[in-house]
Amino acid sequence: MVKTICNEIKYHFKMKVLGIMGSPRREGNSSILLDEALRGAEEEGCEVEKFIVSMLNILPCNGDEECFKDGICTINDDMNLIYPKLLTKDVIIISSPIFFYGLPSSLKALIDRCQALWVRKLPISKRKGAFIGVGATHSKDLFDGIGLTIKYFFKAIGVRYVNSLFVRGVEKKQEIKKYPSFLKDAYNLGKMLAK
Ligand SMILES: Cc1cc2nc3c(=O)[nH]c(=O)nc-3n(C[C@H](O)[C@H](O)[C@H](O)COP(=O)(O)O)c2cc1C
Repeated sequence: MVKTICNEIKYHFKMKVLGIMGSPRREGNSSILLDEALRGAEEEGCEVEKFIVSMLNILPCNGDEECFKDGICTINDDMNLIYPKLLTKDVIIISSPIFFYGLPSSLKALIDRCQALWVRKLPISKRKGAFIGVGATHSKDLFDGIGLTIKYFFKAIGVRYVNSLFVRGVEKKQEIKKYPSFLKDAYNLGKMLAK
């Protein structure tokens, strides 16, 4: 008699989370909020990775439309590290301060360079995107401008824009630490995205 022993094979799928820190000010408010979100995701069993945009060499889009041929950007810089991550991570969280009602130029350069991915007309997948924004004022329309940029950025890379955390009234470096409820919101956002 042949005895067949079937061992239960368990596949453990770890969600991969990418955090993009868009502030040129290191360890400032956006960075702290992003770390909280990534901590929440990590505690849910995700594999997390954080990129600090200002530490990368990302040139602005030159608008030459070379990418229109094949969806490949001809500029050779650190976007080569980012493109594959933008195309494969299960969750992408962008955290950024508001600069003149827009995004800091280094982060905007990263987004503009995704024209090469927009060209590919990627379908929206199950991958999730979220945005954390922080600004000094309490202006009602503080996030109106960047709202569209972030929405169409995620659309261009085939990611569903599922959530955002908008923080007003925080200006000084690390001032966010005085607001545990915002830190908790960021942590909970990371946890929620991991599910
Ligand atoms: C160049 C520049 C422009 C800014 N523009 C705005 C603005 O339009 N509205 C606002 O509320 N805060 C503005 N701020 C304040 C930052 O958004 C705020 O200090 C934020 O907490 C910085 O986050 P960080 O520590 O992650 O860099 C600006 C700051 C800088 C340096």
